[in-house]
Amino acid sequence: MTSAVRTQVAIVGAGPAGLVLSHLLAEAGIDSIILDQRSREDIESTIRAGILEQGTVDLLATIEGSRVHIVGQRHDGIELRFEGAGHRIDFPGLAGRSVWLYPQHEALKDLLAARLAAGQDLRFGVTATAVEGVDTTSPRIVAVDDAGVPVEVEADFVVGADGSHSVVRKAMSGSHAGYFREYPFAWFGILCEAAPSADELIYSNSPDGFALISQRSPTVQRMYFQCDPAADAGAMSEAEIWDTLQQRVPGTTLVEGPIFQRDVLRFRSFVARDLRHGRVAIVGDAAHTVPPTGAKGMNLAVADVILLARALEALLLRSDEGPIDGWADAARDRIWKAQHFSWWMTSMLHVAPDASDFDRLRQLGELRSVVESEAGRTYLAEGYTGWPMG
Ligand code: DHB
Repeated sequence: MTSAVRTQVAIVGAGPAGLVLSHLLAEAGIDSIILDQRSREDIESTIRAGILEQGTVDLLATIEGSRVHIVGQRHDGIELRFEGAGHRIDFPGLAGRSVWLYPQHEALKDLLAARLAAGQDLRFGVTATAVEGVDTTSPRIVAVDDAGVPVEVEADFVVGADGSHSVVRKAMSGSHAGYFREYPFAWFGILCEAAPSADELIYSNSPDGFALISQRSPTVQRMYFQCDPAADAGAMSEAEIWDTLQQRVPGTTLVEGPIFQRDVLRFRSFVARDLRHGRVAIVGDAAHTVPPTGAKGMNLAVADVILLARALEALLLRSDEGPIDGWADAARDRIWKAQHFSWWMTSMLHVAPDASDFDRLRQLGELRSVVESEAGRTYLAEGYTGWPMG
């Protein structure tokens, strides 16, 4: 027997976009239901990026029980390293704001706990298979739960926050059409038990490829190095991993420790052609993907839904269609700036496998022109810490 429910906003996906949206809607007095095919444990344990822009942190900090200011650490700068020397980018001095190191899965634990404590209807293990009535004022999500029982959620508005393989995107525009770019490299990521190797994150360009020395806590570190997209995460020994990392961060002796997780992260840029159709919209990774350099993914998802929540308030509480009609263009404004920033950081810091001597020397010239100019450093600091919300 089908279980059918009705709500004001039906959301597919309990990641950062879906959860923050449901929170903002609840604050405005709008009901929502969230479906996610994953279990709560899955959502809380998937390792993602760890850098939050100031605006993202300011919003998370307003949510009951958030640990972002307790467990998270403020970072006032990063180091760009190339040709064996480090160059600090001073965020508060250049852009008047900072970033916070707070792993995405910790932010998700806070958000899930807060939404459930607030009585949010949040259903795990429910897989959306279709969206019906896309051209009507009552679109409907068709789904199935883990036990095989069909579930239907009818709403005034449907939001796809269902990641890069979004079912809602396909249903909304009939295709996955969009703007796409693939890169000829990936990141090999590790988590290890060790003390931090430096006070701040190091983004290192070396002749052998890029490396990023990030952190998680005083005893756990996250590091990445540029690798072949076809690399097998299990194939390298720990000694080979440490050799690769050490070689790519000349001038710093990395603190080594047991590696307890490894993964290969793909590099893609994507923006969907359509972000909204009638009363259906897509946000977060369903709407766009950025390569990881600069950690814009979660921040962009939060920016999408801050704008969308305002537009839904106008639509559903005041029958004002102006903001929702302008939402996709407003969201695209930031999406393309973040796309450019992520592409720029990626192309400036990585060594493409087919890079010529010209490419390599031009890249070093670019890095020097950024760090030697206050305007260059400011440009980087503004993008990294996140442009103010409109
Ligand atoms: C992390 C990931 C990033 O992509 C980045 O630019 C900085 C930090 C991280 O996972 O810690």
